[in-house]
Amino acid sequence: MRHSRALIGAGAAAAVATWWFTDSAPYPYSQHWLLDLPLPFLTLKRLDHVLQAREGERILEIGPGTGLQSLHVAPQLGPNGQLDIVDIQQEMLDHVGRRAKEQGVDNIVPNCADAHELPFADGSFDAAYLVTALGEIPDPARSLAELRRALKPFGRLVVGEFFDRHQIRPSSLISLAEGAGLRVARLYGPPFAYYAVLRPIAA
Ligand SMILES: C[S@@+](CC[C@H](N)C(=O)[O-])C[C@H]1O[C@@H](n2cnc3c(N)ncnc32)[C@H](O)[C@@H]1O
Repeated sequence: MRHSRALIGAGAAAAVATWWFTDSAPYPYSQHWLLDLPLPFLTLKRLDHVLQAREGERILEIGPGTGLQSLHVAPQLGPNGQLDIVDIQQEMLDHVGRRAKEQGVDNIVPNCADAHELPFADGSFDAAYLVTALGEIPDPARSLAELRRALKPFGRLVVGEFFDRHQIRPSSLISLAEGAGLRVARLYGPPFAYYAVLRPIAA
């Protein structure tokens, strides 16, 4: 009996470990309430500091979830600016849309799309950002290349990554970025919860 319990325990641990290391499903909408909890170091104040959003700009956000960052950044762009949000889950986009309406924010444009193939022309954006989203995308190298393409030549990209099973460590981000024609210009915060500012490498 004791022997079979140990075997079941080991099997369960192996299943959890397999899920932890290999599962690539997007964050489930059923747990959306967790996304509204502030993460240490990846604060909105620090995002403002690294993104430097300006009135009139067109900015792209990938993986907005419930809109924690979107609803903070969009008002900074003013009536002549626009925040395009891209998420693979329509439920997330609908959630942001409802909250935006409640708060009177009307410059957010939702796009249900995959970050591996962005539905935008080359050089469309002044800046782009992703917070706890890049590591969740199955092929982050391809997404970074797409972001590079969609950014203006002097655009800026902010990546925020938090320690969880999907996290992309700063050293991995540096090499992924290089492969996509981007360079990591600055890193802010500790390695387990950091923002990175990336710039396109001139062609
Ligand atoms: C962990 S949530 C982060 C939400 C928000 N940025 C935050 O910090 O609260 C990751 C988001 O990325 C989206 N996502 C995952 N894979 C994606 C993909 N391939 N293309 C676009 N969005 C994706 C998920 O649907 C989810 O909304």
